[in-house]
Amino acid sequence: MLISYGVSLLSLLYFVVCGDANDARFAKYSFNRWELLEYRSQVKELFYFAHDNYLTKGYPFDEVRPLSCVPKGRNFDDIGDTITNDVLGNFSATLIDSLTTIAIFNDKQKFQDMIELVRDSFPRKFDLDSTIQVFETTIRIVGGLISSHLYASDPSKSVYLGSEYDGFLLDLARDMADRLLPAYLTTTGLPLPRINLRYGLRSLTADLVAENNVAAMAGPMFEFTILSYLTGDEKYAAVTRYAMNKTWSLRSELDLLPMSFNPKTGQCYSHFTGIGASIDSFYEYALKGAILFDDASLYEIWRDSYTALVSNCKADWFYVNAQSSTGQLSAPWIDSLGAFFPGLQVLAGDVEDAVFKNMMSLKLWNTFGGLPERWQFRSAATLQPAAESPQASKDFAAEHQRLNVPLEWYPLRPEFIESTYFLYRATKDPFYLNIGVEVLESFRTRFKFACGFGGIQDVITGEVQDRMETFVLSETLKYLYLLFDEDNELHHTRDNMIFSTEAHPMWLKRDVIKKYSQKKRFDDQLYLRHIELRHAEDARIAARRAKGFFGRKRLAGLAKSFFTEELRAADINASQEAQPNQPPTCPRATTETYPWSYSATLSYFDRLFEIDYIYNDTLIRPAPMAARGSIEIRKGFYDRWADSRRSFCRLPPTTDSFELILDVPGRSSPVRLANGSIKCKSLSGRWKFRGEKLQPGKTDVYGNRITTSPFQVADCRNVFRPNDRSDPRTPILLYRLTAVNGVALPRGATVVFDRQHVLRNPEHSRTLYDLFGCNPQNQLMLDSTPVVNLYLS
Ligand SMILES: *[C@@H]1O[C@H](CO)[C@@H](O)[C@H](O)[C@H]1NC(C)=O
Ligand SMILES: *[C@@H]1O[C@H](CO)[C@@H](O)[C@H](O)[C@H]1NC(C)=O
Ligand SMILES: *[C@@H]1O[C@H](CO)[C@@H](O)[C@H](O)[C@H]1NC(C)=O
Ligand SMILES: *[C@@H]1O[C@H](CO)[C@@H](O)[C@H](O)[C@H]1NC(C)=O
Ligand SMILES: *[C@@H]1O[C@H](CO)[C@@H](O)[C@H](O)[C@H]1NC(C)=O
Repeated sequence: MLISYGVSLLSLLYFVVCGDANDARFAKYSFNRWELLEYRSQVKELFYFAHDNYLTKGYPFDEVRPLSCVPKGRNFDDIGDTITNDVLGNFSATLIDSLTTIAIFNDKQKFQDMIELVRDSFPRKFDLDSTIQVFETTIRIVGGLISSHLYASDPSKSVYLGSEYDGFLLDLARDMADRLLPAYLTTTGLPLPRINLRYGLRSLTADLVAENNVAAMAGPMFEFTILSYLTGDEKYAAVTRYAMNKTWSLRSELDLLPMSFNPKTGQCYSHFTGIGASIDSFYEYALKGAILFDDASLYEIWRDSYTALVSNCKADWFYVNAQSSTGQLSAPWIDSLGAFFPGLQVLAGDVEDAVFKNMMSLKLWNTFGGLPERWQFRSAATLQPAAESPQASKDFAAEHQRLNVPLEWYPLRPEFIESTYFLYRATKDPFYLNIGVEVLESFRTRFKFACGFGGIQDVITGEVQDRMETFVLSETLKYLYLLFDEDNELHHTRDNMIFSTEAHPMWLKRDVIKKYSQKKRFDDQLYLRHIELRHAEDARIAARRAKGFFGRKRLAGLAKSFFTEELRAADINASQEAQPNQPPTCPRATTETYPWSYSATLSYFDRLFEIDYIYNDTLIRPAPMAARGSIEIRKGFYDRWADSRRSFCRLPPTTDSFELILDVPGRSSPVRLANGSIKCKSLSGRWKFRGEKLQPGKTDVYGNRITTSPFQVADCRNVFRPNDRSDPRTPILLYRLTAVNGVALPRGATVVFDRQHVLRNPEHSRTLYDLFGCNPQNQLMLDSTPVVNLYLS
């Protein structure tokens, strides 16, 4: 199964392919069959332009430099240059990593030629004196070789090589895996981050192996398990799966996984968590492994980690970084690597949230012309500009802008295109095709140089980067091609095909699975012993825990945290307030639209421009982007696909919001009803409520002006004047919950706890009344103010 279709606001809508016979064959923005074929062939042409340049000017080194047209290889002079040397092992990385893109083009002759080149390039396999990163080498080299092997040996594929192919790609993959595997021979079972391909663990200095991140510790499990299936040798799966399990065991009580550890001791280095750099592939491979290996315990890891992430890190438009032990916001920025997450959510069936999260990436692309490696969503400008001279305030503006992008480069990473591709497969909304057209345009113009594609070194100045990393050809252009390639065999296969994190397609045929389950063997004594020792050690620790030596006891009781949340940084203004029920004007083109088919995102999504508005002070177009418009309102596209009768923008909220965390021993088990309301017996577990303060005249999170009607519902006299029931005053303030454990409550939804259960449980009722009161309407109250949709019943 390629994609699970989730319940989505968009999945109800459909995309009609418009082949208007009167149209010219190619009318930009109509996306008929001819246009898609044209875009597809443009991507392929771009790929071969860069690939040919690599072959003539870069090979046998790892990369070619796109501007200076010289090879880019390892830095042999400075062994400590890990940024270069982690990924460039002097093993012709571009050649290997881009093989499967050629396979996806169905270009059999080229595929065969390139495979022969690989054969000729490694007569001594990977016997190289190169210290490289285990994870990067796994996903690019081992993954690239395995996937190419699958293509070459699967009779159902166009590039199947038949008897001409002897399986040597798998041998090469295995040779590399054997060189990487000793990194796992630690007393924790967690892998060291780096290893030397020839000398193994010897020659590694302490600082090269002191810290590893959770993506790198858990991730190789995916490629290595496939390798076990294909070779019948269980050790690859066993050793790396143990590390996956061990990594997950390092999570906090909130099921949040800190990002980095000392692999030799299991000591935590960085306590925060999120979805970006250092942790991305952990989530990805938990879910993808669960699907490809039909593995229920991996699925549990995915489910629990995703639930914790949604509860603690989910904001409207992105996932924030949080402290893994407390779940509190810990850094006001997001990584460009996190842009892959919507694609993963599509695979998990959560299309609706994926649409939101990918929108953030789009807005970043609009603003910066690419995704800066790190963008700070909260304005760094806390000082007022010294307005003495125009120059001073200009300098201030420039400085301010730079602070909003703590890491300022965009090396043509694939994640945004990847998620866009998955969202297109799930929704068929032409909105996503248009993003592809714009990205393609950038590749044809802004990113194309003499010998390949160069990214942006600094999004603020527009300085270009004389580097083309291997993922440009293996991932970015591959997903872009597939976006336009309706016919691709990957889209019509019944195989259990899953893309690796490096975009290498992986699948396991029935006979391979069957053979593995019957004939797998584990006879490498070194690794067998290693795994036995790890399990014995784990059993010892578990026994000591059971005796209470160092069991962490969960504190009983209720923790209350009540604060004004600051994510909605934009302080929306009195002038807006002065125009009741006047939605802000959506930016839109004006001409008549075609009546028969619309983009759901353009026409029915009433928050399309909210990001621009809310993050107005940190999404500031730098000079090189000043003249470029936003992708979603390019006139031709907007005219063609937006239903102007329906599209509108909801009013952005002006209410203050708050967060409330209840922590009661046990696990929470909310039941979500079809109408979005939540019913729950017990208060046990951790609850993260988000709410807003309702005050007449403000706009609530659903885009409605607050009138006094909810104030009449609540029995307020009782609350405000307990001693004077004749006082007719209505309160000036009410609370309403808007999200529970990260999942938004639809308008009108209620949260109901069981009165009998809550009141009978002494622990609950005590703590409940510490925090809440209850009015005659059965509404719970916070600081003597009713929470209008929180009930006991
Ligand atoms: C790196 O690779 C090149 C090309 O294959 C080769 O000539 C060179 O000897 C290698 N260098 C080292 C230090 O392995
Ligand atoms: C990983 O954990 C699962 C679930 O507890 C268990 O079934 C599996 O055997 C473990 N694998 C290894 C290699 O430790
Ligand atoms: C509020 O509106 C006024 C006038 O329309 C404008 O000068 C001011 O910058 C606005 N403030 C914010 C925070 O947008
Ligand atoms: C942000 O909003 C303010 C007020 O609405 C507006 O004046 C300003 O031009 C906006 N800034 C940007 C960069 O769009
Ligand atoms: C939601 O559905 C439940 C059960 O069907 C019902 O009891 C409740 O009143 C509904 N809530 C709203 C706000 O419609």
